[in-house]
Amino acid sequence: MTRSPAVPGGAHILVTGGAGFIGSQLVRDVLSRRDGTRITVLDKLTYAGNRANLAPVESDPEQAARFAFVQGDIADPAVVAPLAAEADTIVNAAAETHVDRSILDPEAFLRTGVIGVHVLLEAVRHETERAADGARPAAPRFLQVSTDEVYGSIPAGRSVETDALGPRSPYAAAKAAGELLVRAYHVTYNIDAVVTRGSNTYGPYQHPEKLIPLFVTNALAGAPLPMYGDGMQVRDWLHVADHAAAIDFVLRHAEPGDVLNVAGGTELPNRDVIGRLLAACGRDWSLVRTVPDRPGHDRRYAMDGGRLAALGWRPQVAFDDGLAATVAWYREHPDWIAQSRTADWDAYYARQYAERLERGVAVDEVR
Ligand code: NAD
Ligand code: TYD
Repeated sequence: MTRSPAVPGGAHILVTGGAGFIGSQLVRDVLSRRDGTRITVLDKLTYAGNRANLAPVESDPEQAARFAFVQGDIADPAVVAPLAAEADTIVNAAAETHVDRSILDPEAFLRTGVIGVHVLLEAVRHETERAADGARPAAPRFLQVSTDEVYGSIPAGRSVETDALGPRSPYAAAKAAGELLVRAYHVTYNIDAVVTRGSNTYGPYQHPEKLIPLFVTNALAGAPLPMYGDGMQVRDWLHVADHAAAIDFVLRHAEPGDVLNVAGGTELPNRDVIGRLLAACGRDWSLVRTVPDRPGHDRRYAMDGGRLAALGWRPQVAFDDGLAATVAWYREHPDWIAQSRTADWDAYYARQYAERLERGVAVDEVR
């Protein structure tokens, strides 16, 4: 097993998208280890980026001293180049991430997911050449945070890393394109790059547009829960602390060029997730509406996590425990919920749900 020279305590990590859900968990977890690691976050602060996600770091003097925040776009080479020059490791968690928004407006997904990744890779390529010339001690390691959605919908079995990619939404297609660029740069320019493919992630600090935080926040407010179609679509749930831990583990233990599934190991139909979260919120099925389905809705994602398990990593958080803690977190953070619903929220919600909810019907049956 190898360990990248780029991530011992004291290293400098650039986390792009570090004000988002998964990126900020990684930043909080790594800095709270207090092992001397420094982190710079580069984040555009789109509607999904929230500086408050980094408040635990910025309000702690010891952690704040090892932390810097830069607001900017990964697709801007002038911003990226100097940050890459001072980084030992780059974790790219910046992306447009919501499938429904990718169906409404795909362009931003391509700009960040394709051009943005390309700009980051060009910077890594340049820094790799500088290392070969002796201008820096070592080439940076680049980790691309990807998703199980690149495999497409899997009717049976579980995806392994060597399976063909079959993305079916603009979001998933942009993520697959980003991954292909990463592979091409590794093969062609010999950059040290690795890819993680995480499954559906949940936990605190997740923007309330995604299934679990949307349904939890709506349930707590007594608002309707818009379940797409028959609610029998299957997702594999991964707690955000496990997702961040897996990224950290892969940085340390993967070989250059590796692609690793990060499977949550909890495959559930949406109806089952909804039933559990209603119970955790103290609500019942009277809030749930079946609404017209998402176009091209992927029926099932499922990954084999064996390759990462063989390296020594497995998820730790049991779904029911993680869900209960997540519900408690949203219950205790009404200000964060209000703040995360920026100016665009009402317009988005109306566009995505108003007509659907008008056509929605109550769900009497539980599971
Ligand atoms: P998120 O939407 O919560 O956060 C994304 C962050 O990226 C935000 O802070 C946003 O401001 C920033 N960003 C967007 N475009 C940018 C740009 N051009 N330049 C700089 N910053 C930009 O997303 P998340 O759920 O934390 O996802 C992080 C990564 O993990 C993404 O690559 C996503 O595809 C992947 N992923 C997410 C899940 C999941 O279930 N959430 C599962 C697997 C993989
Ligand atoms: P989501 O959290 O958007 O993640 P992804 O589409 O990337 O898997 O959705 C998870 C599942 O929940 C997916 O099958 C779509 C479904 N869903 C609903 O039924 N209603 C909703 O309002 C949302 C946002 C999702």
